[in-house]
Parts: sequence; C-alpha cells; structure tokens
Amino acid sequence: MSQCNRVNRIHMERFLKPWLQIKWIFKLSRLSRLNTFHIAASRAFYDQVIEDRRQLLKEEKEKHSNQPVAGDGVNNSFYQDNNNVDSSRKRPALLDTLLKASEENPNFTDVQIRDEVSLFMTAGYETTAFTLAMFFYLMAKHPGHQQLVVDELAEVFGDSDRPCTSNDFAQLKYLDCCIKETMRLYPGVPLMLRTILEDIQAGRHTIFNPLYFVCF
Ligand code: HEM
Repeated sequence: MSQCNRVNRIHMERFLKPWLQIKWIFKLSRLSRLNTFHIAASRAFYDQVIEDRRQLLKEEKEKHSNQPVAGDGVNNSFYQDNNNVDSSRKRPALLDTLLKASEENPNFTDVQIRDEVSLFMTAGYETTAFTLAMFFYLMAKHPGHQQLVVDELAEVFGDSDRPCTSNDFAQLKYLDCCIKETMRLYPGVPLMLRTILEDIQAGRHTIFNPLYFVCF
C-alpha cells in the first residue's frame, strides 16, 4: 500500500503542476523516474501476491480433489463457502474469484487479474479510510448526533457483539444519514476525470479532442 501512496503523491504533484501534465516535460522530470520505479515495485508486489495465492489454492485444491464431484462434472467444493483456504469466509475473496475465472478462461491473463486487484485496493482503501476518519471527526465534533447514533446502535444490537448483517443496515437510518452527510461535507472523491475521445458540440461551443475534463 505504501507504494500506491507514493504513486498517488506523485500523481497529485503532477496534477498541481500544470507543466508536468505535458508528457515530454514529465518524462524528463525526476518525478517520472520515481513514478516508473514505484509502479514497477507495486506491480512486482501484486504479481508475487497472485503467484503465492495461486500456489496455495493449487495445494488446497489437491487436498480436496478426493471429494465427490457434482452433477456437472466439476468439483466446485473447493471454491465454495467454508471449504476455502480462509475458512472464516462465507464467500471466496476477490482474488480467489479472479483466479477461478482465469482457470476457466485462458484469455483472462495475470496482468488483467493484477489490474483488477490493484483497482479494487486503491479504489476501496483510501476512500473508505478517509470517509471513516471524517465521520469520526464529525461525531466527535457533534456529541448530540453521536448520542443519537449510539442510541440507534443500542436499539438494533442491544448488548450483543454479533457481527453486523446486511439486514441491520435497513434499521440503521440515522447512522446512514450521518455517513451521507459526512460524504456531502467531505467527499472522498471530490472530482472525476474524463478524456474526450472525439470533438463534442455543446451549444455554440465545440470541445476539442484531446481534452481532459475535471468534473466537481
Ligand atoms: C466512501 C467510499 C467510496 C467512495 C466515496 C467511492 C467513490 C467512487 C467514485 C466517485 C467512483 C467513480 C470514479 C470515476 O468514474 O471516475 C468510484 C469507482 C470505483 N470504486 Fe469506489 N468509492 C468508495 C468505496 C469503494 C470501495 C470500498 C470499493 C471496493 C472495494 C470501490 C471500488 C470502486 C471501483 C472498482 C470503481 C471503478 C468502477 C469502474 O469504473 O469500473 N469503491 N468510486
């Protein structure tokens, strides 16, 4: 994750310095060399994770190969529920699902698996961490609202320390409002970037390709 953070910082610096958005200037910069280095390091890390997991799954699959085969002729038991490597999981992890898909479809390459895993990690990690941090900040700043959230949690869970289920979400209405208000005040993704692939006519104006759009 620290490699991803470094790459994020490089991209942020490039974003804030317009001259670095010109490719050839960026390529000459120290930032570009750092960028190449950290991207290669994070790719190597993901490749290693994929390889280790594939090896582990292979060993576990061999252990399960003696189990009865389903009507479709496929022994799916390994990929299902609690027979998996991580027995605490009810569903296979993302990486396991991708590895299974690649077994069934040879066109699904390791590079694609790596891209999917890194997309989910970078898309899911900082957004959630940031939103949680701002949520706790706002809860601390507004103890009255914090109390209402605590009361609602007590109503739904009582004294139990059972895990939260998707059915509970429907009942946690005030918590839901507070999370949404957090994201309104402090959006984890405050802008989106788009590239125009062809010229667009917008009323009297033409937007020319290539142009990068920033939507707030
Ligand atoms: C508070 C938390 C989150 C916020 C505010 C958030 C926000 C966003 C936004 C605005 C986009 C669209 C970006 C674009 O189109 O340019 C996006 C895309 C995406 N997010 Fe999240 N996200 C959050 C949590 C997560 C989590 C937990 C995951 C996965 C575990 C995730 C996975 C993704 C993926 C895979 C995409 C790309 C979808 C695609 O274009 O194919 N996000 N997210």
